[in-house]
Amino acid sequence: MRHQSVLLRECVKYLDIDPSGTYVDGTLGMGGHSEAILEQLPHGRLIGIDRDERALDYARQRLARFGSRAALVKGNFGDLDQILDGLGVEKADGMLFDLGVSSPQLDDKQRGFSYMQDAPLDMRMDETTALTARDVLNTWSETELRSIFWRYGEERYAGRIAAAVAQAREEAPIETTGQFVDIIRRTMPASALREKQHPAKRCFQAVRIAVNDELGELERMLDTAPERLNTGGRLLVISFHSLEDRIVKEAIRKRENGCTCPPEFPVCTCGFVQTLRSVTRKPVIPDGEELAVNPRARSARLRIAERV
Ligand SMILES: C[S@@+](CC[C@H](N)C(=O)[O-])C[C@H]1O[C@@H](n2cnc3c(N)ncnc32)[C@H](O)[C@@H]1O
Ligand SMILES: [Zn+2]
Repeated sequence: MRHQSVLLRECVKYLDIDPSGTYVDGTLGMGGHSEAILEQLPHGRLIGIDRDERALDYARQRLARFGSRAALVKGNFGDLDQILDGLGVEKADGMLFDLGVSSPQLDDKQRGFSYMQDAPLDMRMDETTALTARDVLNTWSETELRSIFWRYGEERYAGRIAAAVAQAREEAPIETTGQFVDIIRRTMPASALREKQHPAKRCFQAVRIAVNDELGELERMLDTAPERLNTGGRLLVISFHSLEDRIVKEAIRKRENGCTCPPEFPVCTCGFVQTLRSVTRKPVIPDGEELAVNPRARSARLRIAERV
């Protein structure tokens, strides 16, 4: 079940780790990035956060040898302020967020993240929250479904698929991932079914983003993280689709160059104060060697900003 951590070497390099610093891994998962960070942190401390209790159990075992240098907490990185307050940590020297789902979440049949396995429609990263994929598909309006398939999945046939879902649930609630895949397959034109990408991939991504409010939590995190970094501390975010990447890029831009004064003004009067600067001009992407062993890394983009 070993999972390859994406852009591992690059993350360690760009975090520019101070051996006695405090670091946050906001998406612990299987603890791969955290382990590599802790190995560079003989006198420091790592705070690991995940909203998935199972990820936490796994990471606790993997990181046990680091003792109290690893503080692992169940939580949502959107609540970063409260989590750090709770631990009595005012500021960190670096933070990493490796967005999206983990391999064990995808592989665990019962959790309903995968279009490859028939399972109840769940898709919750935090299994204690209320909203499931079943709720989204059976209770959200056709218009809302069309909008999420289109916006979160960039699904060309969003309208048709939303209509087919609305029609199918008139007869009986949609209960399983297999039923949802069937609806998608029945609705798409034959030409689309022959494409390389699985026909259900985009709609599954869309429902997962909706169930976990992934973009909303990302924005909440980006609103608070810069204030929680010491000067020189770095914020690293790995995203896996263009929607996330756009949000990260814009959040950095706003803090790097958010002055709204007219260009002819000799001095800034809008009150803008720069809090971040980009460390690399372009996002860092995996090299050929990594792509050869880890296809999941294909769409990964790492953005790095430094607190000024
Ligand atoms: C791609 S995996 C991380 C893998 C990890 N970097 C490693 O090396 O094993 C993403 C993890 O982030 C968690 N996650 C996603 N959104 C989250 C959020 N808003 N708050 C806390 N954890 C979140 C997921 O539960 C999942 O375990
Ligand atoms: Zn200004």
